[in-house]
Amino acid sequence: MDEVLKIIKERRSIRDFQRKEIPEEIVRKLIDAIIWAPSAGNLQARKFYFITKEKIKKDIATAALNQNFIVESPLVVVGCIDKRIDSRYGDRGVGLYAIQDVASSIMNMQLVAFENGLGSVWIGAFKEGDVSNILGLPYNLRPVSIVPVGYPFKTPPAPPRIPAQEAVEFR
Ligand SMILES: Cc1cc2nc3c(=O)[nH]c(=O)nc-3n(C[C@H](O)[C@H](O)[C@H](O)COP(=O)(O)O)c2cc1C
Repeated sequence: MDEVLKIIKERRSIRDFQRKEIPEEIVRKLIDAIIWAPSAGNLQARKFYFITKEKIKKDIATAALNQNFIVESPLVVVGCIDKRIDSRYGDRGVGLYAIQDVASSIMNMQLVAFENGLGSVWIGAFKEGDVSNILGLPYNLRPVSIVPVGYPFKTPPAPPRIPAQEAVEFR
């Protein structure tokens, strides 16, 4: 199988982490994966916080509706859009492009994490205001995703996908 497609198919959302640190060189690869993702107009209207401090992880888990497995992961990445994209792209920039900018970075990072033996899970369910307060975010940043990253205990089976003909239509 093609290597990238194999990685895409084998990556699973991991919600059960070992308490084991991530080596610095792998953290650097995660950062590269984030930076090299595409973005609207290459404005890179995104910012990521890499959280390793126990207290902040705990507060974030609480803000994420008590998804407490977040605390077990050695690294919690919070992805934020940068609303200053509005100076170039207006409402469409803020409401759509910047969110996709963050999403493309997150997906890149999840795949590189998996390639390096790490697990992660994309978390969308959280109280934005609480996360903004916890991190002391400036007015221009809006947190849109949280991704705990770490070595998995075990990998769950793949949740099913809808048939290709339902997902994609040729015209
Ligand atoms: C935008 C988005 C939000 C998500 N939010 C959560 C979440 O809050 N908590 C969680 O445990 N998983 C969350 N997930 C992970 C999905 O449940 C998971 O990707 C899906 O079940 C498919 O499983 P897989 O990633 O192993 O293929 C989210 C995924 C996406 C893309």
